[in-house]
Amino acid sequence: MKFFIDTANVEEIREAATMGVLDGVTTNPTLLSREAGKGFYREILKEICSIVPGPVSAEVVSLDAEGMVREGKELCKIADNIIIKVPCIREGVKAIGMFKKEGIQTNATLCFSPNQGLLVAKAGATFVSPFVGRIDDVGNPGMELVRDLVTIYNNYSMATQIIVSSVRHSQHVYEAAMMGADVVTIPFKVIEQLIRHPLTDVGIEKFLADWDKVEKD
Ligand code: E4P
Repeated sequence: MKFFIDTANVEEIREAATMGVLDGVTTNPTLLSREAGKGFYREILKEICSIVPGPVSAEVVSLDAEGMVREGKELCKIADNIIIKVPCIREGVKAIGMFKKEGIQTNATLCFSPNQGLLVAKAGATFVSPFVGRIDDVGNPGMELVRDLVTIYNNYSMATQIIVSSVRHSQHVYEAAMMGADVVTIPFKVIEQLIRHPLTDVGIEKFLADWDKVEKD
C-alpha cells in the first residue's frame, strides 16, 4: 500500500519524508489556504514536488472541462510529478478523458458514491479519492465506499487506483489496508498515531531500566 501525506505544509512533508515511507502528496484549495502568507501556491507546490518524487495532486477550480484542462496543463508546468485533481462531476468526467488523451495523470476527487467511482474509472482516472471521513461525518460508514470500489474495480479489472481520503484516524488506515486499497492519504498527525503504542513505550522503559542492571565490560 502506498502512503501519501494529505497536506500542503512543507515542514510536515519534510518531516514525514524523513521516515522514508512517503510515496506522494495530496493537496487541495483548503489545504493550500492554510499556508497563506508563506508564498504563492505555485512556489509551495514546486517545493513540495522537490521533496517527494512521487505524485503530488494539485486541484483545478474550474467547473467546465475545457477550463479544467487549461488549468491542469498550467499546473503540470510546475513539475513533472504534478497530477491533476478533478472533481467527480459530469464536466470532470469529460476532463479526465481529455487529460488521458494528453497523457496527464488525474485524481478524481470528492468521490462519495460507487457510481461516481465507476464513471471516473471508465473515463480513465489514474486515481479516485473516496472521502471516507466526510461520509462518517454525516452518519454513514465511509469505509463501505472503499470496499465497494475495491470490488467494482476488481470485477472489471479497472486500473484506477483507490486513494482512501479524508482520513481522520488510524483505524481508517488499518481498514484501508485490510480492504486492499492502493493508497491512503494521511494527515501528519495520523501518521504519528500509526507508530504509537503504549505497550511499546512501556516495553522500552522496562528494557532500558533492565539494561542498567546488566554487567558490562
Ligand atoms: C484528499 O485528497 C483531500 O485532500 C482530503 O483527504 C480531504 O479531507 P478532509 O475531509 O479532511 O478535508
